[in-house]
Amino acid sequence: MRQLIAGNWKMNGLSGDAAAIAGPLRPGSDGLACDLLVCPPFTQIVTVANILVGSAVAVGGQDCHVNEKGAHTGDISAAMLRDAGASWVILGHSERRADHGETDALIQAKTRAAVAASLTPIVCVGETEAQRVAGQQNTVVGGQLTGSLPPGFAGVVAYEPVWAIGTGKTATEADVAAMHLFIRETLVRQLGDAGNSVRILYGGSVRPANAASLLSVPHVGGALVGGASLKAEEFLGIAKAAKA
Ligand code: 13P
Repeated sequence: MRQLIAGNWKMNGLSGDAAAIAGPLRPGSDGLACDLLVCPPFTQIVTVANILVGSAVAVGGQDCHVNEKGAHTGDISAAMLRDAGASWVILGHSERRADHGETDALIQAKTRAAVAASLTPIVCVGETEAQRVAGQQNTVVGGQLTGSLPPGFAGVVAYEPVWAIGTGKTATEADVAAMHLFIRETLVRQLGDAGNSVRILYGGSVRPANAASLLSVPHVGGALVGGASLKAEEFLGIAKAAKA
């Protein structure tokens, strides 16, 4: 299974930035051993999709509504993302769980909506620092998986320990290995054999300097990259560390 390196731009990127970040990914993605995905803010999806059209780099959104259309001021549907040129969507990011009170049930409904619109969902899970200190990480992540993934889920899961996001702290290789194995076992219990084919990304302060070691941990199927995805050179540096 090829590893997936996905960039989550979060709430960053005006039109000039979008061209500067996405432009170099076209030539830079030639001959990479991994799949590459960028998830700009909604307003830049069309621009970025046009820049990357025909390249090996896919484009995704960072959230979608559960409904296809209707009276939901300020929201964006999965069909709209698809129409704008996206083929992926990040769902249940810890920042959305925290900022918008997103629950596992809502994230599961969004995941179903994404699949119905032919988007591949990346469903995020991860514990807070307090939960890890209390030794609750498996209970928390296990509960998020059970609650957020619909039956027959065939997307991607991203493990992002909240305390490692944007902090420069990364989980140790041993912690990543233990959690990714736990997620794999949970997926197989939940989805049967199909759980073996779900890529499990690691996210949280991934940089070119730590990418090779994180990406070599068993059951790590790629990386979900925040800050370092805003510079094409750093993002491609991480992608070069990925394995087929
Ligand atoms: P950072 O890479 O900036 O820590 O962000 C990780 C993340 O939240 C990606 O979704």
